[in-house]
Amino acid sequence: MLVLGIVGSPRKDGRTNQLVGAALEGAASVGAQVQAAYLVDYAIRSFTGSGGSSQALTYCPAELSALCAQADALVVGAPVYYGDINGLTKDFMDTVRIPNENGKPALGISIAGGSGKGLLSGVQSIYHWFYHRQMRAIDPTPVSRFNLAQALEGLRASGARLAELARHPQPFPGAGREDRWADVLAHYATLPYLDRGPVDEFVLLASQLIAAASGAQAELARTELLQALGLLQAGDRAQAGRHAVKAYELLYYAG
Ligand SMILES: Cc1cc2nc3c(=O)[nH]c(=O)nc-3n(C[C@H](O)[C@H](O)[C@H](O)COP(=O)(O)O)c2cc1C
Repeated sequence: MLVLGIVGSPRKDGRTNQLVGAALEGAASVGAQVQAAYLVDYAIRSFTGSGGSSQALTYCPAELSALCAQADALVVGAPVYYGDINGLTKDFMDTVRIPNENGKPALGISIAGGSGKGLLSGVQSIYHWFYHRQMRAIDPTPVSRFNLAQALEGLRASGARLAELARHPQPFPGAGREDRWADVLAHYATLPYLDRGPVDEFVLLASQLIAAASGAQAELARTELLQALGLLQAGDRAQAGRHAVKAYELLYYAG
């Protein structure tokens, strides 16, 4: 049983590789065979065709598509560039063809290694792809510099869970793609983070910074965050955003 880790960063020794590696370690710990594929090693071309699956093979090397088909589960890790996944990962998603993708267990990781902004929109992009490809995705993992250590730990557990799921594949029922959407939708409705927006992203980043901080500045940030959460509950997202940004800035610029 093979768990394949897709490393979407062109930097082969960067944080994306570290995070995908942690998930693969977790999968290996429960007996899976694991392999990493570095997208930068493949001549993936931007799609300029009209979309048919046979055409796509000329844009994504056949051996990469074959490797993804051979894999019983996929881990996809992408760096965040300007608030979303990088182009190399998106070109892979646009062009790879995986005939047996229905119900394939999948795990996605975004790493926003600068300000942290884009960690949610990045991971959402990966899960939009999993959803459209009708894979059975688990554990969306948005990562910034501030929660990197916890994410590495969590990914070992997620990788192990992914490998266990791959032992008992559960394709979504239905004869064809169009028969499966209700079940696919129900599955994705259970996953965290996918319905969150930019205000929630600042709340998440502020929470991560607060968890790693102490002292008076951390207390001030905590007060701002609590106000943001209260306003969110009351439905005032605009004002909540102001307090979440304040909480973030109190600690981001202090460090
Ligand atoms: C072009 C570019 C744009 C970036 N934009 C963001 C961003 O929007 N938010 C952020 O937190 N980090 C941003 N970063 C930082 C990367 O997310 C960070 O360096 C990450 O660690 C890259 O992954 P890697 O280490 O696997 O290469 C950007 C980096 C580059 C090169």
